[in-house]
Amino acid sequence: MLARADGFDVRTASSPAAVLALCEAEAFDVCLLDLNYARDTTSGREGIDLLTRLRELDPALPVVVMTAWGTIEGAIEAVRAGARDYLQKPWDNVRLLATLRGQLELRRALRTVNRLDAEAARQRRAELPAIVARSRAMQQVMALVERIAPSSASVLITGEHGSGKEVIARALHAASARRDRAFVAVNAGGLSDGVLDSELFGHVKGAFTDARADRTGCFELADGGTLFLDEIANMPLGQQARLLRVLQTGEFHPVGSSRARTVDVRVLAATNADVAREAAAGRLREDLVYRLNTVELRLPALRDRRDDIAELAATFLARAGGGTGRALSPSAMEALLAHPWPGNVRELEHVIERARLLASGAEITADDLMLRPRGDGAPRLEDMTLEQVERYLIERALAAHGGNVSEAARALGLSRSALYRRLTSLGIRS
Ligand SMILES: Nc1ncnc2c1ncn2[C@@H]1O[C@H](COP(=O)(O)OP(=O)(O)OP(=O)(O)O)[C@@H](O)[C@H]1O
Ligand SMILES: [Mg+2]
Repeated sequence: MLARADGFDVRTASSPAAVLALCEAEAFDVCLLDLNYARDTTSGREGIDLLTRLRELDPALPVVVMTAWGTIEGAIEAVRAGARDYLQKPWDNVRLLATLRGQLELRRALRTVNRLDAEAARQRRAELPAIVARSRAMQQVMALVERIAPSSASVLITGEHGSGKEVIARALHAASARRDRAFVAVNAGGLSDGVLDSELFGHVKGAFTDARADRTGCFELADGGTLFLDEIANMPLGQQARLLRVLQTGEFHPVGSSRARTVDVRVLAATNADVAREAAAGRLREDLVYRLNTVELRLPALRDRRDDIAELAATFLARAGGGTGRALSPSAMEALLAHPWPGNVRELEHVIERARLLASGAEITADDLMLRPRGDGAPRLEDMTLEQVERYLIERALAAHGGNVSEAARALGLSRSALYRRLTSLGIRS
């Protein structure tokens, strides 16, 4: 009744045989399973047997188990037998719905991976650089890309490390009328003042000691095309002034030459710095920013567009080379969705590539991903002993209720005295 009222399409079955019959007849997204049926009412044996049968029937079906109050043993056995999660009776309505919804999302994400795996492989054959933009945030970015690509307006692309700034710059170029001309990328932040000058504007023979021949600069190489200035916030200040002049006049001088040259270049710039803060601190010329950010395109961090994770993972799995072979396990997918991704898309790309190398089984597991644990330090249920689980849940309940034993007991489904007994036996309180 609860799930139905929340918009779920629900089928119910009241015996193990009926559950199996339903699952054979229809495909489900999630199963909420009680552990006790007719044979007896408390051991949970029937439920575990049924769970095993369900796993054989459809290994991808997420099963959430409901266990009788206070029997943490049942929960652990169920998780060992393949349940994705468990709820203790009496359940909390909000938590129950959240758990079901979470499993549903995970299931959808996994389906997407499988389907897109094939799609990505096809695209790779067609040599099309695939930009994943499934999330709303990225669709807005792509809509803006489409709108501004045809013009020659400067675009300032901002976003964290690895969020795809260069990918977007290339997309802007590829969608513009300049697409058949050069796309030239320069790292404006990695070079010293003098070197950058000759990199950007070129030099003539004899301009300085090492200048044994004329050199064509990036501005000239990009004539008719697009110049991508990466790491713009790290550009030396003197260079910023010279760049600004070029952008304003459309003219530049190769180092050592007095003859001005004109080029037709569209400039795209990128930075992962906070542009306003860099400008306020005097590290970035405000007038240059003003010139470059005719349009500003902000790339959202990966953690703010988790809808892209499944498809990105599929893309990288397929890209990593010759026939994908291995799929992601549900636990691996879950770990990918939960990770905070400080290194954004590039980090995800590396994680997938490494996992492909490390995985030894038929599937890529969460362990193969080698993601650093989340900051909350929550241990994994599967790795704990029964006593550790009990202690962990009790301590967490106490912490959540500010040490109030009555409230913690209620949350755990125990009487106050039963919780006290456990606290004593576990040595949490004397
Ligand atoms: N939307 C996307 N779809 C597919 N691949 C992407 C996407 N965004 C980024 N990537 C991939 O992630 C990697 C990092 O992207 P990119 O180099 O564009 O990031 P960046 O923002 O320029 O990073 P940095 O700030 O470190 O220079 C690249 O291998 C790129 O192909
Ligand atoms: Mg980059």
